Amino acid sequence: MKFENAVDEIKNRCNIVDVIGRCVPLKKAGSNYKGVCPFHNEKTPSFVVSEEKQIFTCFGCGASGDVIEFVQRYENLDFHGAVQKLAEECGVDLTKSSFGTESRKEVYYEWNREAAAYFYKVFRKSVNPGIAYMQKRGLKPETLQKFGIGYADENWDSLYRYLKGKGADERILLSLGLISDSKGRYYDKFRNRVIFPIINTRGKVIGFGGRVLGDGTPKYLNSPESPVFLKKNNLYGLNLSRQDINKEDCAILVEGYMDVISLYQHGIRNVAASLGTALTENQAAMLKRYTNNVILSYDADEAGKAAALRGMDILHKAGCKVKVLHISDGKDPDEFIKKNGRDAFRGLLKEALPFADYKLALLKEKSDLRTTDGNVVFLQKAAEILRELSPVEADIYVRKLAAETHISEGAIRMEMRGAKSEANNVPSEKRRSETKKTQIGGRDLLERNLIRLMLLKGTYIPRTEPYASAFKDPVCYRIYEVIRSLYQSDEEIDLKKLEDSLDNECAVVLGEIVEHIQLSGNDEQMFEDCIEHIRIGMREKREAEIIKLLEIMDEEKEKTAIEDLTKELMQIQREKSRGGFGA
Ligand code: GTP
Ligand code: MN
Repeated sequence: MKFENAVDEIKNRCNIVDVIGRCVPLKKAGSNYKGVCPFHNEKTPSFVVSEEKQIFTCFGCGASGDVIEFVQRYENLDFHGAVQKLAEECGVDLTKSSFGTESRKEVYYEWNREAAAYFYKVFRKSVNPGIAYMQKRGLKPETLQKFGIGYADENWDSLYRYLKGKGADERILLSLGLISDSKGRYYDKFRNRVIFPIINTRGKVIGFGGRVLGDGTPKYLNSPESPVFLKKNNLYGLNLSRQDINKEDCAILVEGYMDVISLYQHGIRNVAASLGTALTENQAAMLKRYTNNVILSYDADEAGKAAALRGMDILHKAGCKVKVLHISDGKDPDEFIKKNGRDAFRGLLKEALPFADYKLALLKEKSDLRTTDGNVVFLQKAAEILRELSPVEADIYVRKLAAETHISEGAIRMEMRGAKSEANNVPSEKRRSETKKTQIGGRDLLERNLIRLMLLKGTYIPRTEPYASAFKDPVCYRIYEVIRSLYQSDEEIDLKKLEDSLDNECAVVLGEIVEHIQLSGNDEQMFEDCIEHIRIGMREKREAEIIKLLEIMDEEKEKTAIEDLTKELMQIQREKSRGGFGA
């Protein structure tokens, strides 16, 4: 069967309502079905499945697509993976020729599963060094069973002989990293180790970690990358914890296998591990399917701190709210919770520092604030950290920092402005003026900047016109209107004439604008930045409007209008996710 045919066949055979209904409770609503969206956190259902069109749409987060798209997203699969899964479910035969790579993968999964089952069986035997080791580390039989912990015995080729007996092909075992060959002989890679099977969110065994029973090296031996194991695409434990992560709307990210298992046993179940490697964008994206809130709980040592710093940036860029937990006793979460118990660990979770606080605290630790030089360097670095935040957040931190360090708010804002001036002048101008006139609010300032620009060059006046409806400050709007009426050609506006045409209130504001708003550097860039901010504002307003509308519209009677609005909403949300201002 040709691949395209197979896809059509799948779409013919499975009803999207059944497929989604297995994962998301759906209620009939008119001709459609409604449920709570599995792709973002919400309480009131805005996830709609259309049986007639065989598509799903979420009015809350904009997710939408057909049955394959749903499976891709829900199971975190690529297109082929989703087709494969659905094909199995609805009995469509994807022959090897039409579906090469995925069916090849199945064979790898299968031998990994056999290997995991073998290790597990050996571990369950009444006496073996593996179970003794794990018991010594405080793990209960039911926990070990839950994670499918196994044991690879000390013989050279137990696993190899077992799998060979079941008909395994050496080439596959080699590329899975289960065996090695030396001078024509095959031997097991994992020997005399406790085995942690790594299982993806589809329940497939994709690799293994093996720990020595004691102090040998390497402490952990991990499967190499293989056709089914890409380290950057997986998090250990997520197969068990994703529901808890979703429910708690928070993920605790740790470094090691033992941290996951130990926290889980103590009842902290919204946990997964990045397995000692640097966190990747893909892993951040995976977490984001279940929550936007991540608490990094890495080891207390320097390596752990450095890994947390890098991980934080990746998660922040992916749009997560990141906090960092400080292990106050012991070297890692496992040691801490074993010694102090679940409630103490919950206490640490509560005290976890938001991303910016954590970075600023580390920076403060490293700086010498008694010297001028120390202050200057601190200020520069702090400004860099604050620039990653939204203006509102940054503002809070500026105040906090000023209070803590005795560096003035003005100096901190200046530093942020200086550092940012090349990339984007608007927020920096805003902050600078704020230090002079604190009653100037954020949004007004944007409009004041625009007016200042219009006074500088007449050409900015017609260019502002399409956005005139977005003016919020009535005084600024009145000034703008007068400016527009005075505008003739692309010459500068005569200030005197303008003043004379304004009422008192407006004249005062104009005076402030002329006196306080200084245009530094590139006015064109600044104009564009102002307009961009306005556009973001307009877009957000429209988005809220559409979401409201969709909530109240009649699904039966206003079908086409709903479709159009949904399209517009999706477009807005796509633009938003692409946009640079993180609005
Ligand atoms: P325990 O000592 O058993 O408690 O392990 P841990 O989970 O505390 O490990 P550690 O903090 O030393 O390392 C964190 C993670 O890094 C581990 O879970 C492994 O995934 C990985 N790791 C640690 N040591 C090694 C190693 O020697 N080789 C490899 N490849 N990975 C390692
Ligand atoms: Mn440990």
